Amino acid sequence: MAAIPTQSSYPILHQELLAWAQQMADLCQPDSIQWCDGSKKEYDTLCELLVSKGTFIRLDPKKRPNSFACFSDPSDVARVEDRTYICSRTKEDAGPTNNWVDPREMKPRLKKLFEGCMKGRTMYVIPFSMGPVGSALSQIGVQVTDSEYVVVNMHIMTRVGSKVMDVLGKEGEYVKCLHSVGAPLAAGQQDVKWPTNQTVKYIVHYPEDRAIVSYGSGYGGNALLGKKCFALRIASSMAQEQGWLAEHMLLMGVENPDGEKTYIAAAFPSACGKTNFAMLIPPTEFQGWKITTVGDDIAWIKPGADGKLYAINPEAGYFGVAPGTNAKTNPNAIESIRKDTIFTNVGVTDDGDVWWEGLTKEAPKNLTDWKGQRWDPSAGKPCAHPNARFTAPAHQNPCLDKDWENPNGVPIGAFIFGGRRSTTIPLIYQAHNWNSGVYLAATMGSEMTAAAFGEVGKVRRDPFAMLPFCGYHMGDYFNHWLQFGRNIPNPPRVFGVNWFRKDEDGNFQWPGFGENMRVLKWVVEKIQGKSNAVESPIGWMPHYDDIDWTGSDFTREQFEAIMAIDREAWKRELLDHAELFERMYDKLPKEFIFMRELLLSSLWRSPEKWRLETGEV
Ligand code: GTP
Ligand code: SPV
Ligand code: MN
Repeated sequence: MAAIPTQSSYPILHQELLAWAQQMADLCQPDSIQWCDGSKKEYDTLCELLVSKGTFIRLDPKKRPNSFACFSDPSDVARVEDRTYICSRTKEDAGPTNNWVDPREMKPRLKKLFEGCMKGRTMYVIPFSMGPVGSALSQIGVQVTDSEYVVVNMHIMTRVGSKVMDVLGKEGEYVKCLHSVGAPLAAGQQDVKWPTNQTVKYIVHYPEDRAIVSYGSGYGGNALLGKKCFALRIASSMAQEQGWLAEHMLLMGVENPDGEKTYIAAAFPSACGKTNFAMLIPPTEFQGWKITTVGDDIAWIKPGADGKLYAINPEAGYFGVAPGTNAKTNPNAIESIRKDTIFTNVGVTDDGDVWWEGLTKEAPKNLTDWKGQRWDPSAGKPCAHPNARFTAPAHQNPCLDKDWENPNGVPIGAFIFGGRRSTTIPLIYQAHNWNSGVYLAATMGSEMTAAAFGEVGKVRRDPFAMLPFCGYHMGDYFNHWLQFGRNIPNPPRVFGVNWFRKDEDGNFQWPGFGENMRVLKWVVEKIQGKSNAVESPIGWMPHYDDIDWTGSDFTREQFEAIMAIDREAWKRELLDHAELFERMYDKLPKEFIFMRELLLSSLWRSPEKWRLETGEV
C-alpha cells in the first residue's frame, strides 16, 4: 500500500492533513501518491502524461501555443444536479431544493464506493487557495484526486502549491475535497482516454464538516471541487453562519470617460452570459467607457467597516462556455484562449486548431467532433458539445481589472440579476428597494441550458442563479439576503435584466453582447443619480430617451416591445412565484407574501398591455 510522502518540493508540517491524506490513500489504494506544488514543471509533465494516455491532443504550437483539446466520455459532459447532495445533519437544513440523504447513511455508502477506487492510478493531493493567497477573504482547500485532467485544470482555476501550504502552516483550517473518477484499473488493464464511472455518480457535500466527496465524474463542476462544490455550496453555508455571501456572480468594473469606476456584481444562471458580460467591449461610439473583469462566475462578498460591500473573485481562471464565443461576441475571451488553454468537448481541425458552433460562420473542412468522430455537417448534430468549455488563466484576459487580486476586494455599486427568458421579463428594470430587489432575485426564472443535465429550454425558478449551488435551505438563504441589507446603511441598488426575449418568429429581440453596454450605462448612471426612470407596475424603467443609442439603429418601437409588460403573462409568472413559495413555506420570509400581493395588485391596476409610452400610472 502506498505511503504518503511527508515531503514535496515543500515541507508538509500539518500533521492532521498528513493523517487525512494517509487515510484517503488507505481507503482508495492508489499505486502511488503525489503532492502537487503548482509549478509549471508539474503542469507540463502532467499535460505530457495526458498526451501519452491519449486524453489530450496537443494543438498546433503556432496556432494554439501550449494548448490541448480533449473529449470527455459522452456520459460525462455536464453537472449532474440529480446526483448532487447536500448532506447536512437534518433534511430541513438542506431544504426543499436540494437532494438530501442522512450523512449517517451517505458516509458508509460512499466509503464502500471509494474502497480501492484508485487502484492502478496515482493519487494527487492538491493544496489550493480560493481567492488571493493569504487574503482575509480567501479560503483554503485540499483536493485528493486520481485525475490528471483535474490537477491541470485546478492549476488554472485556483492557486495551487507551496504558498498555500505556508498559509496553512501546522494547523490551519481547510476544506477536505475527496474526488475519484471511480474507474479503478486491474493489474495490466489498459486505461481509457476519459475514465469515468458511467453508472454511479455522487457529488456530496457535508456542510457541517466543511467536506466534499465526489465520485464517478471527471467533468467541470463535478470534479474541480474548488469551484461549485467549495466556492458556492460549502462557502454559501459558511457565509450564512458568518455573515457574508458566496454567490454565482460575475464581477466587473465600469469606468466612465471621467475615470470614475463603479463595480457591478451580476448573477445569471449557468450559460446565460456571465463570461460575456464580464468581458464586454463597449460599442465604438462609447468613447472613454471601459469594462474590466474581476471575475466571471463566482463572487465572495463581505461588508466592510465603511458599510460598503466588498467582493473578491475566488477563482484564478475561466471555465467558460465555448459555443457562441467568437471575435464579435467576446473578443476578450478569444484573446484569453489564444494560448495555454485546455479545450474540452470542442471540435478539432486536422491542422491542430479548435472549432465550435458560432466560432466562425463557415465551419472549416475536416473536423473531428467532440465524440472523436469525423464530423458530418449534414447529419444535423453539433460538432462541439453545447456545454463544451475552455479553461484559461485569468491573467490572459486583456481587460482584467487591476484590482482583480486585491486582497480587500472591490466595492460593489449595484447588483444585477437576469435569466434566459424568451417572454414576459423586460430588458431592464430596477427594483424599488432592497426588499423588492431580493424578491426579484429570489423569484427569477430561466430556461434550462446544457450546463446541467435536464430539459433544455424549460423555464424553472432559479433563485439568485443559485438553485443548483445553495448549500442550505433556500428559505434561510432568502432571509440571509434580506438581513444582509438591513445590516448595512445603504445597500446597493438592485436591477433585473433579460437579454434573451424573443419575437413571434423566435428571433432575439435584443442584439446583446457589446450592446448590453447601453443598458449598463443607464444602470451606472442611475445609481449615480444621473439618469431618469419611469415607474412601471414592476419597478423603475428607462424611457427610450433615457438610454444612449449613439451608433445604434434600435428603434423606439423595438424598445417598447422589449420593455412591454403583459398582465396575463405576469399573472402566470406570479403563479410560479407562489408555487416556489409553497415549496419552502416554513422558512419563507413574510415580506415575500406581501410583495407578491403588491405586485399582483399593481399589475391589475395597470393597463392589460402596459407600454412605456402610454403606461405611466
Ligand atoms: P456558466 O459558466 O455556465 O456559469 O455560464 P455564463 O453565465 O458565464 O455563460 P456565458 O457567458 O459563457 O454564455 C453562455 C452562452 O450565452 C453563450 O453561448 C453566449 O453566446 C450566450 N450569450 C452571452 N451573452 C449573450 C447576450 O447578450 N445575448 C445572447 N443572445 N446570447 C448571449
Ligand atoms: C456552471 O454550470 O454554472 C458552470 C460550469 O460555471 S461548471 O463548473 O461545470 O459547473
Ligand atoms: Mn457558473
